[in-house]
Amino acid sequence: MNRRSLILGTGLIAALLLVGLGVAGLAFAGQMAPGPAQPVNFPHTVHVSALGMECRFCHRGVDTEAQATIPPVEQCLFCHVVVRTDSPEIQKLLNSYRNNEPIDWVRVHRQPDHVGFVHWTHIAKGFDCATCHGDVTNIDQMPLGRVKQVRALGMGDCVNCHRENNAPTDCWTCHK
Ligand code: HEC
Ligand code: HEC
Ligand code: HEC
Ligand code: HEC
Ligand code: HEC
Repeated sequence: MNRRSLILGTGLIAALLLVGLGVAGLAFAGQMAPGPAQPVNFPHTVHVSALGMECRFCHRGVDTEAQATIPPVEQCLFCHVVVRTDSPEIQKLLNSYRNNEPIDWVRVHRQPDHVGFVHWTHIAKGFDCATCHGDVTNIDQMPLGRVKQVRALGMGDCVNCHRENNAPTDCWTCHK
């Protein structure tokens, strides 16, 4: 091999490596992308892992209704009238209550209107929240501590799980 082809060859390998790294980098960036920013930087880790609060303490509809629901600010103030009132994030909760302006949480999981998902049947069947939502307290899965969607939960995903569990798969099970 002469010197010129050696240089060309090395250049080609370097270029291929860079393309490869770029593709891997994009895939990595997608995986690491955090969920949407919320009006209040609510940490699931603190409340669930450190304080040991149950998911249903806040998401009260989950065992009995279609919607899991996000708690009204009054429920947060149960503690935060005294806890960390110096924090700017907690100030937002106090202002929201004072001004009677509900916090406009950004929805992370949202099905189209023609799909009728129900939480309670799935919970009654014994599925854990993490089966569909991942671990909301795991910072590796939820970069910056923001909840993000980690499972497809599209029609293919729903129907597959229904098949595997002998649950109904007629169109009108999920479509109204
Ligand atoms: C102290 C109250 C509280 C507790 C306890 C709590 N959450 Fe939340 N959760 C919230 C609030 C507030 C939001 C909206 C802001 C956000 O997304 O972080 C939320 C959002 C979510 C979302 C995203 C909702 C959407 O828009 O799609 C999921 C999923 C979720 N929580 C699951 C859980 C699970 C699972 C647990 C238990 C391991 C849990 N939460 C415990 C208050 C709580
Ligand atoms: C079988 C899958 C599945 C399981 C199990 C599940 N969820 Fe969900 N969750 C969903 C889907 C799908 C949506 C979006 C629903 C929609 O847009 O109508 C959702 C939406 C939510 C939301 C935001 C909208 C709402 O319903 O208030 C919260 C909060 C939530 N889930 C919390 C929980 C918690 C807490 C648990 C466990 C106690 C849980 N989920 C278990 C699939 C699941
Ligand atoms: C059972 C009591 C309790 C409830 C209910 C509660 N929290 Fe908390 N929260 C705490 C404690 C304790 C901390 C940790 C305070 C510290 O770091 O010293 C905390 C921390 C926080 C922080 C971080 C503050 C900061 O700047 O470090 C935010 C934001 C927050 N809570 C929001 C909420 C929201 C929103 C709700 C209602 C959905 C809620 N909390 C419900 C007890 C509670
Ligand atoms: C982890 C598995 C799993 C996933 C994922 C799942 N389901 Fe289910 N679903 C079930 C099982 C099992 C049942 C039957 C529960 C029972 O027998 O009470 C069920 C029941 C239902 C029911 C009530 C049916 C009835 O007639 O009682 C609806 C509606 C439903 N699922 C919609 C959905 C939708 C929409 C999705 C996707 C967004 C979804 N499911 C994702 C396992 C799953
Ligand atoms: C287990 C739940 C489930 C069953 C059963 C189900 N679907 Fe769906 N379907 C969904 C969900 C969730 C979506 C929305 C997410 C998506 O587009 O994948 C959807 C979306 C659709 C859409 C819109 C697609 C688009 O591109 O917007 C059509 C059309 C549809 N379903 C038809 C059907 C028909 C026909 C059947 C019966 C053969 C059926 N579905 C059975 C859950 C279900």
